[in-house]
Amino acid sequence: MIQAPRGTFDILPESAARRKVVEEQAEKILSAAGYRRIETPAIEATELFARGVGEGTDIVRKEMYTFDDGGGRSLTLRPEGTAPVCRAYLEHGMHKLAQPVKLWYLSTFFRSEAPQRGRYRQFWQVGAEAIGSPAPETDAELIVLLAELLDGLGVRHDRLRLASLGTPATRAEYREELRRFLRAHEDELAEEVRNRIDLNPLRAFDADDRRTRAVMRDAPKLLDRLDPADAEHFAQVRALLDDAGISYELDPTLVRGLDYYTRTVFEFTSDELGAQSGVGGGGRYDGLIELLDGPATPAVGWAAGVERMLLVARDLAPRAELVDLFVALGQREATRAGFELAREARRAGLQAQLELAGRSLKGQLKHADRIGARFVAIVGNGNGRVSLKDMESGEQRELGPSDVIPAILRGGRL
Ligand code: HAM
Repeated sequence: MIQAPRGTFDILPESAARRKVVEEQAEKILSAAGYRRIETPAIEATELFARGVGEGTDIVRKEMYTFDDGGGRSLTLRPEGTAPVCRAYLEHGMHKLAQPVKLWYLSTFFRSEAPQRGRYRQFWQVGAEAIGSPAPETDAELIVLLAELLDGLGVRHDRLRLASLGTPATRAEYREELRRFLRAHEDELAEEVRNRIDLNPLRAFDADDRRTRAVMRDAPKLLDRLDPADAEHFAQVRALLDDAGISYELDPTLVRGLDYYTRTVFEFTSDELGAQSGVGGGGRYDGLIELLDGPATPAVGWAAGVERMLLVARDLAPRAELVDLFVALGQREATRAGFELAREARRAGLQAQLELAGRSLKGQLKHADRIGARFVAIVGNGNGRVSLKDMESGEQRELGPSDVIPAILRGGRL
């Protein structure tokens, strides 16, 4: 038997139904705030992520599914949605529209990570991006929208981690300061951290190693180095969140795994998820569009992992699937009449299923009961009439074929 590769999301219909609930909630909450859905392709130019997400990030260094298209062009299965949305924004001239352009997506993404609970190689993300606004209200509004989505789905989240990364210039100066600090403590650091002092010193805050963590407690913090404009922007985001009653923890060690962030960054976490505690997160990325050869354009957004949300969602009950009518066949010769009745029922807006497995009449009635059919129409009684059985009352009547659907539409009064 050929098996699927390890590490894909749950593919079965029950999971699809749960994802649909996420989709409906996202649609409701985001479209009420003016976000419109966008679908970008699963395959993009590798350079988009190398440049956009950053050469030094784990995602680009080791988690991308990259291949040659046969013509010498390197392509990659999208590991995230922000860079593709920005690419689409530029490619389709959305900078000429009224700003900000507010977009959301629900798509699959691909990262070559070791699969475990809450971490897959192909997974779903719902995301929202507001491109073209520097206002702190945009940051705060997006955070509120994500909180509403999580709460609306009953996703248990324990903390909202919040920080500001400032501008690239502040960050560059700070990185140098941090590098000097790390070099001064080199022999107390885990090897992995030591090897990446030059490439990505901020990741030292993420280390699991106990000694490294102890060193990092005294490390200089970026939040203390913000320039006045960034500090003011961050203060306004916080004031708006306070007004909205959203509690958060200032976390100067919040390092997101993507390089494009500037100013605000945030992440909702759920302890129940264990090591993969991030349910959803994002931040401002004021430099990304320019990095992709566009005009300087401020932007902010987030993405939340659908599987992770579903793992910790409380009472997330997909709507019951309805079956208004099951068309049973009294004898094989009735196939064409049954086929036609099911088709007509669907045209009339009913959920109708036809017997497809060659069961006995008794077996068909049992099956209709199991799938929760409201009515069963038995065609092929030999007299050209149809027996319509109300599965709730048990009542059964003989009707002419053209009277069956009107009777069901009347609510079952036979
Ligand atoms: P991210 O933090 O890399 O951000 O991913 C967002 C969410 O996707 C995570 O919080 C997690 O729930 C889920 N996720 C990530 N990797 C996996 C995986 N291997 N398996 C299952 N779930 C996963 C971004 O992707 C940014 N594009 C977010 C953003 C949007 N920033 C600004 N705009």
